[in-house]
Amino acid sequence: MRKVAAVLLVLLLTGLLGGCAGKNPEGENRAIVVGFSQLGAESSWRIANTRSVEEAAKKHGFGLMMENANQKQEKQIDAIRSFIAYQVDVIVFSPIVETGWDNVLREAAQAGIPVILVDRMIESGEEGLYTAYVGADFYAEGVRAGEYLIRKADAEGLEHVRIAEMSGTPDSTPMRDRQRGFRDAIAGDPRFEIIDSISGDFLRSKGEECMTALLRKYGPDGIDVVYSHNDSMMLGALDVLEREGIVPAKDIMLISVDGEKEAVDALKAGRLNCVVQCTPDLGDEVMRLVRDLKAGKEIPRVTHPEEGAFCDLDDLTDPRVEGF
Ligand code: AHR
Repeated sequence: MRKVAAVLLVLLLTGLLGGCAGKNPEGENRAIVVGFSQLGAESSWRIANTRSVEEAAKKHGFGLMMENANQKQEKQIDAIRSFIAYQVDVIVFSPIVETGWDNVLREAAQAGIPVILVDRMIESGEEGLYTAYVGADFYAEGVRAGEYLIRKADAEGLEHVRIAEMSGTPDSTPMRDRQRGFRDAIAGDPRFEIIDSISGDFLRSKGEECMTALLRKYGPDGIDVVYSHNDSMMLGALDVLEREGIVPAKDIMLISVDGEKEAVDALKAGRLNCVVQCTPDLGDEVMRLVRDLKAGKEIPRVTHPEEGAFCDLDDLTDPRVEGF
């Protein structure tokens, strides 16, 4: 009852009753309501992504019920079940890991509620559990990181390059695909050796812990490159390196992914070598798909935003080199 009141409150506060139309249980028109299950608030990327979805829902005139799962899959499953109970028009969710969603998504399908995945993908043997995916091509991001490393090794004539990888949340799409893409890009080149891969869960605090552990294990002279699956972990590692008197981006090459402002500023200041872009601004595209779906139009199954990479081998004074 309290939650039903909360939904009504969201609709009233956003001034949406009678706006873009969905149907209530009696078949009358009412504002379209989107249920959004966000996975957490682990990084600046995630916070920007949440903001993007909220702003886009407002812009499109949709009611938004948002639940933040604080990195817990069970909480996401509960949130999706509550969206089904409220009979929202569309469920949007960013799955923390790829597996374990079949039952709850089957329930959504049985209730006739379409699901749009945002940012992360699921792995399932069943085809019809989601209608569309909007998010990065994480494999291509990993490839971009590897391609930068090859260019840099060529430019500097490096012969044996020892790489330590700080990976994201195990079993998540960006972790899996950034790892695969990077490995595929450097595969077969005898200059490169991945000496370690440890998980920092996409968290800055864990990035610090990972870097500390790596330095303890290999010493500053035993690591040539750190490849981090996101900026938050890299910024944590950067704190450790600088505290230890290691000159970042010179003594150890640093390659990261995301493009948050603090990382891009560090890149421009010569404290990182490469930041592969991953945009958090996915909200507008998601809400466009919600609108089209509710208008009965066909929508694309997969939408990837355009992305690139910012690196010390390129012109960093270009005004397009900016963070979020
Ligand atoms: O899924 C996108 C990734 O999740 C971002 O790279 C990272 O910063 C976030 O936590």
